[in-house]
Amino acid sequence: METKIYKIEPNVPENKVLEETSKIIRSGGIVAFPTETVYGLGADATDPTAAKKIYSAKGRPSDNPLIVHISDMDMLRSVTTGDLTRAKILAEKFWPGPLTLILNKSEVIPFETTGGLSTVAVRMPERIFARLLIQESGLPIAAPSANTSGRPSPTTASHVIEDFNGRIDAIVDDGPSTIGIESTILDLTGESPVILRQGFIERADIEKALGIEIKEDPTLSPEDRPKAPGMKYRHYAPRCDLYIVRNTDDWEARARALIAGHIEKKEVVAFISCEESRDAALNAKFYSLGHRGDYKAIMQNLYAVLRKLDADDIKVAYCEDFSMTEHGEAIAERLLKASGNKVV
Ligand code: TXA
Ligand code: MG
Repeated sequence: METKIYKIEPNVPENKVLEETSKIIRSGGIVAFPTETVYGLGADATDPTAAKKIYSAKGRPSDNPLIVHISDMDMLRSVTTGDLTRAKILAEKFWPGPLTLILNKSEVIPFETTGGLSTVAVRMPERIFARLLIQESGLPIAAPSANTSGRPSPTTASHVIEDFNGRIDAIVDDGPSTIGIESTILDLTGESPVILRQGFIERADIEKALGIEIKEDPTLSPEDRPKAPGMKYRHYAPRCDLYIVRNTDDWEARARALIAGHIEKKEVVAFISCEESRDAALNAKFYSLGHRGDYKAIMQNLYAVLRKLDADDIKVAYCEDFSMTEHGEAIAERLLKASGNKVV
């Protein structure tokens, strides 16, 4: 199939592009579009056949549900059932934006979209093109990140083209995603809210908005804690062997020693870290995530760097650990999964 690629000025949605892409959505096709977090692979969330097309294009297991994107609060009501008190408080504060809420689904959303679950993940994206596309289509749009299953998520249209050119109807290029990692996912279907995936919106932000503490359930082992079904799969992963260098006091010296070991054996090795640690790379290929402390830049650069490892045919890479860094939890979560939990 020929994939139509529309290039538009960032945040200046062209009417003709909106008209054509919304027509594709309404007729059951797939359009990759920008959101502020990552690019999404969008289709009509109310159409079981369209949802199936997304799974097959992505190569995604069918038990891994999709996020439904909405443009207004009436749409939230139509895709859900049950009490929306907490959802409305959070929507007031964080929507449009990078927060996804798990709620009970209504009959409007088929089980094909939710991977068989009776709950639905809903988010109102901030990126103007995304919201206008939903509005113009007049439909909620189901959209997972627009990467083939397992690969790092796409933060530019060229990442989407790498994975999907010739396999979907259209790709809208509206410039890079500004946040760079996927939305925070909060489950509101139980007695207490549970964070299923970390993101730009943090636990403390949600606790403040709701005026309650969000605890991990201490009776559950880490393996049994509820998670978004998708989190059990290897994710965000470059093709190389990626190791996370645990954040101890001497982490930089250990990284240096590990890298030196490869250099001695004349092996190509990569080091992913912040500008300030460039020296520890020795003769390794250095990939900078940005300045230490600038967590917004680090989030924005993360997936592009992971994809660059593949493009550069890197076989082994070491990466700084952000688990103890302020605002670093969401970044650390992605890196841990990308490495297949290889921490050294
Ligand atoms: O920022 C984002 O959330 C991006 C953009 C495109 O909006 N989307 C995204 O979608 O990251 P995806 O499909 O790559 O990740 C969705 C995650 C998966 O881990 C999935 O298992 C979980 O959300 N999820 C979806 N519906 C769920 C539900 N009903 N209950 C629990 N987890 C759910
Ligand atoms: Mg994804």
